[in-house]
Amino acid sequence: MNYGVSIRVRLSLWYGTALALSFIVFAIVLYAVMARGLREQVDHSLEKAAEAAVRALEQHGVGPTLPFDDLAAEFPELAVLDKSFQIFSPAGKVTIQSPNVRRHDIPLSRTALEAAFEGRATFESARFRGESPIRLLSVPIRRGGELVNVVQVGTSLQQAEHTLRRMLGVFLVATPVALIVALAGGWFLAGRALRPVEALTLAAKRIAAGDLSQRLTVPRSSDEIGRLTVTFNDMIARLDDSFQQVRRFSADASHELRTPLTVMKGETELALRRPRSAEDYRLVLESSLEEIDRMSRIVDELLFLARADLGEVKMESKPVRLDMLVEDIQRQAVVLGQEHQVHMAVGAVEPVIVSGDELRLRELILNLVDNAIKYSQAGGKVELRLSQEHGLARLAVVDQGIGIPPEAQARIFDRFYRTDEARAHCKKGTGLGLSICRWIVEAHQGRIDVQSAVGQGSQFTVVLPLAST
Ligand SMILES: Nc1ncnc2c1ncn2[C@@H]1O[C@H](COP(=O)(O)OP(=O)(O)OP(=O)(O)O)[C@@H](O)[C@H]1O
Ligand SMILES: [Mg+2]
Repeated sequence: MNYGVSIRVRLSLWYGTALALSFIVFAIVLYAVMARGLREQVDHSLEKAAEAAVRALEQHGVGPTLPFDDLAAEFPELAVLDKSFQIFSPAGKVTIQSPNVRRHDIPLSRTALEAAFEGRATFESARFRGESPIRLLSVPIRRGGELVNVVQVGTSLQQAEHTLRRMLGVFLVATPVALIVALAGGWFLAGRALRPVEALTLAAKRIAAGDLSQRLTVPRSSDEIGRLTVTFNDMIARLDDSFQQVRRFSADASHELRTPLTVMKGETELALRRPRSAEDYRLVLESSLEEIDRMSRIVDELLFLARADLGEVKMESKPVRLDMLVEDIQRQAVVLGQEHQVHMAVGAVEPVIVSGDELRLRELILNLVDNAIKYSQAGGKVELRLSQEHGLARLAVVDQGIGIPPEAQARIFDRFYRTDEARAHCKKGTGLGLSICRWIVEAHQGRIDVQSAVGQGSQFTVVLPLAST
């Protein structure tokens, strides 16, 4: 849980920092662009005003004493309130002045005068104590190559400064607010994004406590969390499956071992109730031996499967003449078949060499043939076929016996599983044979399949890779 909180904190900090940084950069750029724009706007209006003044003076001819009011009467565009005008003589003396200058005398600066002699206009900024700065443009008027006048137009930068200051104020207030909102938003979003993770953690805890029936609610979106949830659920389902299998296996194993024990106990108790003849004792002991055989078979097979699960069963990997093995088993099976009045038929057997463990392969085929004979009706026929195609050996054991219902076909390879039909048909059997068969086939990189119809018969097919020559 701790790390979840810290991820949340980290996420919100990242989010907040990124957002605040971009906001600050945005504010700085906006401020700079705005300041530049305002200055350009002021300078442009000064140029316009200077142009008008120069035009007025050139048309009027320049007299040193003409008062501004007369000039303004003829050129109304000069009488604008936000601009001040001064006209200087080449010596730098004021000759004409608009009324709004009179509050301060603004002398013509040296640089502006020198530039005027060279025929250049000059932009300057000036500031008087306690007032907003003034922007000035000084333009020379020349006639015949000689400087006759300098026109100076001025305007207050108050408006522009005011605008910029207001903007700065807004930014100063908005930045911390934006930061707080970003942090809060980040906190909220991170919390929302991590909520399914929290749910996952809780579910994992419950499952760790042993409740494997728990599943997570899968979110509707198929995002990372959605996929994680699905994967997680799959994992639990598989765990649940294998735990249930283990539980069922233990229950089945105990049950299979208890049956012969119960039989032995019952018969022994019965025999001990009163004195019996030697012949009676013999019968009880024989019956006990049968049950003991049965139990040792189960224990042997369980031991084999357990060791196989642990990877402790050694498997040889030598070339095996599968056709010879099949013919050998067929001869044995003829005898076994006669006991059950089942005809063991010889099918097509091609020469086939696989690589593997001959003893295990013999056990595999024997188990399949044993099943085929055991689950056949008297008078039935069992056939063994062997062929090869596409680099694979194909062994088929075909019978005309009781068959396997479709819903049971997937389960007959499970340990201890036996169909009801099989139990009714033949009391003997533990349901471990096919589990061992499947293990042997898989250890040989092959596979085993069944096709069956109830009452018509079954065909078990084993496919094994051929030995590489
Ligand atoms: N040839 C077959 N015909 C019909 N059912 C079969 C056949 N082979 C297997 N089965 C079914 O599959 C079940 C499992 O077979 P498996 O060989 O594992 O156990 P079993 O033969 O009952 O006991 P075991 O082989 O351990 O003595 C059988 O109980 C039976 O229901
Ligand atoms: Mg069997």
